[in-house]
Amino acid sequence: MNLKRMLLLVLFVFSLMLVKRYFRNYQVEELQLSDWFQPRKRPDVITKTDWLAPVLWEGTFDRRVLEKHYRRRNITVGLAVFATGRFAEENLRPFLHSANKHFMTGYRVIFYVMADASFPLPHIQPSPLRTFKVFKVDTGSGWPDGPLEPMKSLSEHIISHIQHEVDFLFSMAANQVFQSEFGVETLGPTVAQLHAWWYFRNTKNFPYERRPASAACVPFGQGDFYYGSLMVGGTPRNILDFIENYLNGVIHDIKNGLHSTYEKHLNKYFYLNKPSKLLSPEYSWDLAFSPPPQVRYVKVGHISHRKL
Ligand SMILES: *[C@@H]1O[C@H](CO)[C@@H](O)[C@H](O)[C@H]1NC(C)=O
Repeated sequence: MNLKRMLLLVLFVFSLMLVKRYFRNYQVEELQLSDWFQPRKRPDVITKTDWLAPVLWEGTFDRRVLEKHYRRRNITVGLAVFATGRFAEENLRPFLHSANKHFMTGYRVIFYVMADASFPLPHIQPSPLRTFKVFKVDTGSGWPDGPLEPMKSLSEHIISHIQHEVDFLFSMAANQVFQSEFGVETLGPTVAQLHAWWYFRNTKNFPYERRPASAACVPFGQGDFYYGSLMVGGTPRNILDFIENYLNGVIHDIKNGLHSTYEKHLNKYFYLNKPSKLLSPEYSWDLAFSPPPQVRYVKVGHISHRKL
């Protein structure tokens, strides 16, 4: 990254901090966990974290109670999708079609499509509950910096309008396909996705950033879970906080002559800022593998464009 881009990034984060001071800090009224969550129904998996956040698996939640709660609150949910890079156009069509069908069915949803090229948006049947907004993202040199430009762009959109438009916001990569209902059980102040591969592996092998000079460093013997980077969710304010931390981490690393990945920065963030809800690997299954018995119901699958 050259000096000019670095300075611009520093200025950008500084302006983000200034703006955030004036951000509306409203509290979201949440249900009691015991009203809708039955962790004992799934003794075969981890259903609660040490900090008592629920881990959502099929069978643990009562969607009817949740539906009643969220209908009364008349919520709007945002879904920002990053369609950038080589497979953007190819990925976006199945993503949007499947999301239109399975993402928060029956609720007002605004899709924020963040794309780096002006390819035509797939045609989707208009509906009063579904709005699509397309924003151009300048990814410049492409993918080596990770989703730096899309995340910067998302933070600007959160500040200028998304915070006034939605109650909850998800940010997802486009190489995913919804396979069954992704409903209100996933809503919360901060929502993290368990990495489907690492959930079934030993904690001590987690691929956290280990170099002490990196902002993303999680020392050996520490860390809770390994989270996947294809999805984050929460209130717009918390997503903004997450992005600001990520950008600050990138700046810190550049100053130290290092480069860590987006996924490692995300893992550090959730290590320090414990998510209020975790989604099981059912919400992010790699379609190249057949699921183990614990994964009963794949809700979102992803395609990993690996060379065969
Ligand atoms: C629900 O919210 C929408 C948009 O925010 C608004 O247009 C509508 O009037 C609200 N409905 C009720 C019953 O409050």
